[in-house]
Amino acid sequence: MAGKIPLSRVYHSETIDRRILEVVKSGNFILGPECKAFEKELAAFFGVKHVVLSSSWTAAVHLLHIAQGLKPGDEILVPSLTAFPSIEPMIHVGAKPVFCDIDDTYTICPEDMKKRITKRTVGILPVHLYGRSCNMDAIMQIAKDNGLWIIEDCAQSHGARWKGRRSGSLTEHAAFSFYPSKNLTVYGDGGAIATSDDEIARKVTMLRNHGRKDKYLHEKVGYNLRFNEIQGAIGREQLMVLDELNAGRRRAAEWYRRELAGVKGLVLPPADVNGETETVYHMFVIRLDSNPIRESLGKSLKEQGIETGVHYPVPNHLQPAITELYGQLPSLPKTEDYTQRILSLPMFPSITEDEVKTVAGAIKQCLVK
Ligand SMILES: Cc1ncc(COP(=O)(O)O)c(C=O)c1O
Repeated sequence: MAGKIPLSRVYHSETIDRRILEVVKSGNFILGPECKAFEKELAAFFGVKHVVLSSSWTAAVHLLHIAQGLKPGDEILVPSLTAFPSIEPMIHVGAKPVFCDIDDTYTICPEDMKKRITKRTVGILPVHLYGRSCNMDAIMQIAKDNGLWIIEDCAQSHGARWKGRRSGSLTEHAAFSFYPSKNLTVYGDGGAIATSDDEIARKVTMLRNHGRKDKYLHEKVGYNLRFNEIQGAIGREQLMVLDELNAGRRRAAEWYRRELAGVKGLVLPPADVNGETETVYHMFVIRLDSNPIRESLGKSLKEQGIETGVHYPVPNHLQPAITELYGQLPSLPKTEDYTQRILSLPMFPSITEDEVKTVAGAIKQCLVK
């Protein structure tokens, strides 16, 4: 058996080691010059007015919802197929997620969304899942027609594009995660919101740091959800090479497509539509014919030292935490079907062509048995 092929592998460089030491020696640890520079550089990279760092995506979005004045009874349209944290902040402020089905791109289905709008709907949280942009034209039209705000969940889509524009820059608000598995990581928890709204940026900046207006003056009762200097420096280094890292992921996706083309019983991720999406392959997700085939393939790959994952095995509208709160929710047929059959293959910028061939070979061997 060849060496283990992990699901993901974090980018690292000697420059990052050096920068970490530099920060330690600088004596600045929290919300200092590295954080300020990282916020500015992220804003420039994504083409947005403000970026405000916080301790995670979840923390940043919680503060954003407070700053937006989201209140009990408000409803937000969100795909059920996403990481559970996508919906936690809204629930914490008393608002309700309204779960929508997906289409064949694994992202929220605009037609399904339309059916779920009520007079309590205030916003949409589309998730650019697996590094592929949602259909933003359709989503922005629905928002416009119904007076809804949008927060783009870009936890998995750093650098992806929709019609040439980076995801996160298309609407008024967006949020990013820098968790270790993400396309841009800070080797720990970290996150940020992007916003075009000066007042929202000011409020989130104030709330993340104990509601401070000044060192000893507190405008509001806030939180300690700050970002730190070591991770700021790491993030800045990662941002400098993000396009290069994403190119590595896109190259690996092409290798997988070539190696797995025409294999029966397997659906590849949707290809990019020229001039529309530019996917950054946070994950490379295939779909099998049935749940038992998915399970036995995952098991067989594991035995051969190949790590796989399922993102996500239980859709959010079926999570115990959600049914406990809202009872049984309407069924979402495509989400429920696909979550039984999807499988995430090893995907990271430094994966080699040989490693991709090994994974593809093992899949073919298992499926034609
Ligand atoms: C789509 C999506 N949204 C939100 C989150 C939450 O990010 P964080 O762990 O930084 O709070 C994640 C990370 O798991 C994610 O993948």
